[in-house]
Amino acid sequence: MGLYSTVMDQITFYTGLSPTEFFTILTIMVFVYRTVSAMFVSPKDYNKPPLVSLKTNLRFDDPKPTPEPVQLGEITEPELRPYNGSDPSKPILMAIKGNIYDVSSARNFYGPGSPYTMFTGKECSRALALLSFKPGDINGNLEDLDESDLAVLEDWEYKFMEKYPKVGQLVPEKRTQQNKHKEQIQDNLNLDEGKEE
Ligand code: HEM
Repeated sequence: MGLYSTVMDQITFYTGLSPTEFFTILTIMVFVYRTVSAMFVSPKDYNKPPLVSLKTNLRFDDPKPTPEPVQLGEITEPELRPYNGSDPSKPILMAIKGNIYDVSSARNFYGPGSPYTMFTGKECSRALALLSFKPGDINGNLEDLDESDLAVLEDWEYKFMEKYPKVGQLVPEKRTQQNKHKEQIQDNLNLDEGKEE
């Protein structure tokens, strides 16, 4: 008890404050110090990566890791269409110069609602060459493009070759059975006309 009252007397003697005032001010100073120092990074920790707890990791990372790319071989443009991110069980694919790339690892660019989702499930060489988002340019028609457009396309192609796995190749649409039949009839008519002449 003697020690306690001596300490209290000393506080009043040295600071001119009552013990209550002294401890209130001390508490406020500690609080302010801790709040302000929490806003800064210690110089020795400056270059370290931010500490992310396992819990935060699980929250921010995509909970489902990108599945292994599946090779599709040769497919047609209509067959490529469903791979546009609308079905989460399918990979997201896009084609450049007939080569199909699996871009599922970049859902932030190509997933539904993302800035480049319009290219998915499609051959988009023309759009990339012309840096165009017009729906009419999202196709593989390179006929009227000049050298600089083709150089731009080549840069895109290198980027995709480096970054994404190639999973297939676009092939022209298969002739439907009905079309084949019509073509056969036309061929026969042409042959008959040839005989009559
Ligand atoms: C307003 C102009 C544009 C800006 C500011 C812009 C910005 C960006 C940025 C910051 C990225 C991310 C780059 C990276 O981290 O790798 C990106 C990616 C991309 N941009 Fe653009 N962009 C623009 C126009 C275009 C146009 C016109 C096209 C094509 C028609 C395009 C197609 C793409 C594609 C396909 C990617 C994703 C590439 C990948 O998969 O890594 N962008 N863009």
